[in-house]
Amino acid sequence: MITSGKTFVCGVMGCPIEHSMSPMMHNYYSEQLGLDMVYVPFLVQPGQVEEAVKGAYALNIRGVNVTVPHKQAVMECLKELDDAARVIGAVNTLVRVDGGYKGYNTDAEGILRAMTKAGMVIRDKTCILLGAGGAAKAAAYVLAKEGAAKVYVLNRSLDRARELSEDLNRMTGRQVLVPLALSDWKTIREKDCLAVQTTSVGMHPQVDKSPVEDEGFFAMVDSAFDVIYTPMETRFMRLAAEAGARVSNGLDMLLYQGIAAYELWNPEIKIPGEVIDGARELLIRWLGGTV
Ligand code: ATR
Repeated sequence: MITSGKTFVCGVMGCPIEHSMSPMMHNYYSEQLGLDMVYVPFLVQPGQVEEAVKGAYALNIRGVNVTVPHKQAVMECLKELDDAARVIGAVNTLVRVDGGYKGYNTDAEGILRAMTKAGMVIRDKTCILLGAGGAAKAAAYVLAKEGAAKVYVLNRSLDRARELSEDLNRMTGRQVLVPLALSDWKTIREKDCLAVQTTSVGMHPQVDKSPVEDEGFFAMVDSAFDVIYTPMETRFMRLAAEAGARVSNGLDMLLYQGIAAYELWNPEIKIPGEVIDGARELLIRWLGGTV
């Protein structure tokens, strides 16, 4: 990649950072679209987030992705906060504004675009959200915002499910989230539900595990989205598919959260479908070498 005096710079801050796929993805978009932009990894130690954000602004950096462990800490260092980031309580994308950065959370947008692409409908649907961690919050935000009729939040620790449900019901102004212990799925009476799996259960190398195994659970589900993408087909997805559900893994969520960030930094750009397909291939090849 040849840079010039006009090249604008974006990057990703995290610790560690050397395994990030983001530089490869964003530089691929710029190359395909002919944009004079470079995207670089920034190793930022915990405790140095504020200096890093100030430094990025002083260096005229246009945009920064934020990854583990800085997604919460960075919220203290911003001029503005997008609604999704505020409700989810985590920021993964900074966009340069006058005097500093505005924080966004593009995971929500990523899930929504991935679900839409997979033909999954949220509006008026009964949803079953498995998990109550960071990924669950982004999913819960999307489900509440996009008009789910009800969202059962199932988690191993009921306290965390309660906390997530109360927070999001209050912040979205919709009383749609209902906390349940993982084992209490049997109390759900609805059919044709959309299940969203956000726990780490089933992720490589524990590929033979699923947070729920019972046939009765999958009989309630007509669509199943798993945020995991290693492996590409989780046991949860396999069980859902065997019960006749439409299924999707989290690869497109990963892809689209990055695209959403790229499009925030380049508002005049809408990444075309064939470039997205190329990026997906790149991602699959990269993941093939890591698992
Ligand atoms: P992330 O930010 O990726 O969502 P997290 O905040 O650590 O990660 O959340 C992990 C989720 O996986 C939680 O919902 C966790 O359940 P608890 O809140 O009860 O810990 C869930 N999880 C992890 N291991 C699990 C297991 N063996 N069985 C069931 N749920 C599990």
